[in-house]
Amino acid sequence: MDLGLKDKIAFVAASSQGLGKSVALELAREGAHVILNGRNTELLEATKQEIDGVGSGKVSAFIGDLSIAEDRDRIVNTILKQYTAIDILVTNTGGPVSGRFETLSQDDWNTTYELLLGSAVSLVRSFLPGMKTQPWGRIISITSQAVKQPVENLILSNSVRASVVGLMKTLASELGEYNITVNNVMPGYTKTNRLKTLIEKNPTFAEAVNEIPLKRFGNPEEFAAAVTFLASARASYITGTSLAVDGGWIKNIL
Ligand SMILES: NC(=O)c1ccc[n+]([C@@H]2O[C@H](COP(=O)([O-])OP(=O)(O)OC[C@H]3O[C@@H](n4cnc5c(N)ncnc54)[C@H](OP(=O)(O)O)[C@@H]3O)[C@@H](O)[C@H]2O)c1
Repeated sequence: MDLGLKDKIAFVAASSQGLGKSVALELAREGAHVILNGRNTELLEATKQEIDGVGSGKVSAFIGDLSIAEDRDRIVNTILKQYTAIDILVTNTGGPVSGRFETLSQDDWNTTYELLLGSAVSLVRSFLPGMKTQPWGRIISITSQAVKQPVENLILSNSVRASVVGLMKTLASELGEYNITVNNVMPGYTKTNRLKTLIEKNPTFAEAVNEIPLKRFGNPEEFAAAVTFLASARASYITGTSLAVDGGWIKNIL
């Protein structure tokens, strides 16, 4: 299947490692120009070098913390000077801190709003005018299986990510007329640094593997394949969905 991604321009937020990196790598393999981001300069540069040359597209990288408005503005302004519009926006950041309600502070909540919801709102606001003029666009939000079924000890993720899904579902209705699709992809337990850290903090987290019908944690490449399809020209009639890549962990019928 030709995914029609050659020469598309994709900004993959928080992509120096983990799920974002895998998505960027897969888009690059399909011939897209990819724009990477992360906070750690060395990590970001290493990832840029790794992805450079895997496909025919250009790879660029912008350092910055997407939970900070000034960083977002700087990154977006630089990108929009280089490219008048992007085709594909993948919203993503690192996950919020783990914990139960009584172990978390009001500050933890405020930081998480900005990290998960604020970053997504702001990136869509910045890149939307360009997508509308094309008119073509793909907006994909990396959320979590937690939006369908709360994950123990992750109350911040369970709560604030639901608002991102509300945002994206509403955007799907508002932006369809501009040929812009908007979807969420919900990772299940996937082998990245985030999962490693959660297990180190709380070893019982690893027992979740027994609740997964496929009886293993996912690989980032398996997640990236789903995002890449939704970003492609071939996913032209899919919008407003939340696709789980969770090995069957979510127990809801729908
Ligand atoms: N892996 C899983 O099992 C799983 C399951 C459900 C949901 N999720 C969610 O999916 C998202 C990605 O997870 P992951 O497993 O890929 O995490 P990860 O392995 O920790 O990677 C996170 C990436 O985002 C960058 N990053 C973190 N915070 C950032 C910020 N504020 N601004 C810009 N870049 C930032 C990191 O680089 P720097 O640190 O250098 O910035 C890194 O490149 C997270 O929100 C996570 O909670 C993951």
